[in-house]
This record gives sequence, structure tokens and C-alpha cells, in this order.
Amino acid sequence: MTTADVKPKLVLVVACALVDVDGRVLIAQRPEGKTLAGLWEFPGGKMEPGERPEETLIRELAEELGIAVKEPCLAPLTFASHAYETFHLLMPLYVCRRWDGIVTGKEGQATRWVRPERLRDFPMPPADEPLIAHLVDLL
Ligand code: C5P
Repeated sequence: MTTADVKPKLVLVVACALVDVDGRVLIAQRPEGKTLAGLWEFPGGKMEPGERPEETLIRELAEELGIAVKEPCLAPLTFASHAYETFHLLMPLYVCRRWDGIVTGKEGQATRWVRPERLRDFPMPPADEPLIAHLVDLL
């Protein structure tokens, strides 16, 4: 068997750009103890077996940020596909402008509302960086 025969592990993560009434986007800082700690990302998380992406986001945004999102408020925008050293990440990015509740870092993570053109000032995982241009175009 050669390395070409080894199938890369596929990791499915769904991310969401929450956009406030001023057109700012929420980013969250990956906490200590996680991979890529300290980097800023669009909130979201891994898809669990049997979940659709929208269901993943509704669950993750409630768990991580304490907000309630309704499925019709989630609009798919683009898709990240990044080959990390040990796995291949596929990550759709949704946009959401309406939710119930106040955004709170439920897992102790820092959060910031950032104008789209300022997103590049915050170091992000390599999978997230190409998503910024899509948000700048949209917003
Ligand atoms: O958040 P979690 O650690 O479960 O995500 C799994 C992996 O997906 C991370 O180790 C990271 O490499 C990648 N990831 C990413 N960008 C995100 C979320 C996760 O590159 N916004």
C-alpha cells in the first residue's frame, strides 16, 4: 500500500456568520486546550451523524453562544474545503441576521463584532480565511 491509497479523514464542520443590524460579523476565539487555540473563527461546530447542517448550527449556536436560531433565518453562502495535515475539512458557511437571545460566550470564549473589512486583522484558521472575501462581497 502506498500513501496514495490512504483515504484522508473527512471532517464536517458547519460555520455561521452572525450579522448584526450594523453589518458587523461575530467571531469567536478558540479557547485554550482546543486545537488552533487563540485563533478567531466563525462560530459553529462538527456535524453529528444524522444531522443536517442547519440542525448542527441551531444546536451549536445554542450551546456555544446561548442564542436561538430558526432554520429559515440560515442562508448558505459558501463552502470551505481545506486539506489539513491529518484530515480534510469541509465547512459550509451560513449567514444569519436574526436570532433570539443575547450572544454570550457560553464556553468562556471571547467574542467580537467586527466590520467585514476588518476581519483580516484577526488571525483565523487557514480554512476560515478564504471565507472572508465572500462576506466582504456580500456585506
Ligand atoms: O471546533 P473543532 O475542534 O471541533 O473543529 C475540528 C477541526 O476543524 C479543528 O481542529 C480545526 O482544525 C478545524 N476548524 C477550522 N475552522 C473552524 C472550525 C474548525 O479550521 N471554524
